Amino acid sequence: MTKTMRAVEITEAGGPEVLKPVERDIPKPGHGDVLLKIAYAGVNRPDALQRAGLYAPPPEASDLPGLEASGEVVALGEGVSGISVGDKVCALLPGGGYAEYATTPAAHCLPVPEGMGMKEAACLPETFFTVWSNVFQRGGLKAGEKFLVHGGSSGIGTTAIQLASHFGARVFTTAGNADKCRICEELGAERAINYREEDFVEVIRAEGGADLILDMVGGSYLPKNVKSLANDGRLVQIAFLQGPKVELNFAQVMMRRLTITGSTLRPQSDLAKARIADALREQVWPLLSAGKIAPVMDSEYALDQAADAHARMEGSTHIGKIVLKVGG
Ligand SMILES: NC(=O)c1ccc[n+]([C@@H]2O[C@H](COP(=O)([O-])OP(=O)(O)OC[C@H]3O[C@@H](n4cnc5c(N)ncnc54)[C@H](OP(=O)(O)O)[C@@H]3O)[C@@H](O)[C@H]2O)c1
Repeated sequence: MTKTMRAVEITEAGGPEVLKPVERDIPKPGHGDVLLKIAYAGVNRPDALQRAGLYAPPPEASDLPGLEASGEVVALGEGVSGISVGDKVCALLPGGGYAEYATTPAAHCLPVPEGMGMKEAACLPETFFTVWSNVFQRGGLKAGEKFLVHGGSSGIGTTAIQLASHFGARVFTTAGNADKCRICEELGAERAINYREEDFVEVIRAEGGADLILDMVGGSYLPKNVKSLANDGRLVQIAFLQGPKVELNFAQVMMRRLTITGSTLRPQSDLAKARIADALREQVWPLLSAGKIAPVMDSEYALDQAADAHARMEGSTHIGKIVLKVGG
C-alpha cells in the first residue's frame, strides 16, 4: 500500500473555496480502531460549520472534514474484534472523511444494509446517529405522539420524518418551498408547513401542540417552539442556524412543565457513540435492509469538488443528502 492519499483540507476558515485537494499521509489505526478505504463520504452541515471556523474538531480528531463514510476495512488496530479486513461497512468518523483513507473506532462501524449501495450507505451514520439519540433516546418519542421537526428536507429532517412515522408518531415538519414540503409528506409527514407562507405555531397549536420538537434553527424559533409545545412537551435543540441567543419567557416552561434539552454528537465519548451504534444495529438497520426506510439522495460530487458540494448545501436548494465519490 502506498503511504500517501488524496484528501481535501480546510486551508483557512472561510467559504467553500478554502477547501483544497492535497496529499496527506495515510492515517494509522490506533487501539480499537479500523482503517477504512473510503468509497463515498457523506457531506453534512457541520462540515460547513467546521470549514467556516465555527465548529472545531475535538482534540485528537483529524483536522480534515468528513464525519461519515462507506468503505472497506483494510487494516485493524490492536484489540479489535468482531470486524475483519475486507468487511464492507459504513461508519461514523471523528473527522477525516474527505480522504481516500480514514480511521475510526471499530465500534462505530455498521454493516452496509442488505441491498444498499455504498453511495447510499455513506449517508447513513451522521444523520441516523443524531436522530436516534436525540429523538428517541433523549427526546423519548413514543407512538401516537405529535412530533415536529424543522428543516424537514435536510439530511437530518428526511431521516427524522421516516423514523418517527415508522415508529408510529404523527409527524409535522417545516420546509422552505412547496417542492420540499411535497417530498416531506411523501416520506411520511402528516403535514409539511411551508414556513415562508404559513405560521407553523398556528398550525401546530390547532393540533393541540407538539409533544416533541427537534430543532436546528434556534434564534426566533426558540420562543415559537415553546409556544408550539403541548403541556409536558420536550424541545431538543441540535443546532442554531439562526443563532443561539434570544429572549425567552421561562414562565411558560414552568407553567406547562416543558423540557428544553439538546446535544451534539461529535464531542461525545467513543463509548456513548458505540452504544448508539448498538441501538441502531438492533432497531433501525433491519428496517434499512428491508427497504422500509432509505436515505434521500440529493447529489454526488467528486472528492476534488468538495467546494461545489458545500456551495450546494449552503444554498439550501438540496433535498436530502449530498455525497462525495472517493474510491467508488
Ligand atoms: N447536534 C448534532 O449532533 C448534529 C449532528 C448533525 C447535524 N446537526 C445539525 O442539524 C442541521 C441539519 O444538518 P444537515 O446536515 O441535515 O443539513 P442540511 O441538509 O443542510 O439542512 C439544513 C436545513 O436547514 C434549513 N435552514 C437553513 N438555514 C436556515 C435558517 N436560517 N432558518 C431556517 N431554516 C434554515 C434548510 O432548509 P430550508 O431551505 O427549507 O429552510 C436546510 O435544508 C444542521 O444545522 C447541523 O449543524 C447537528
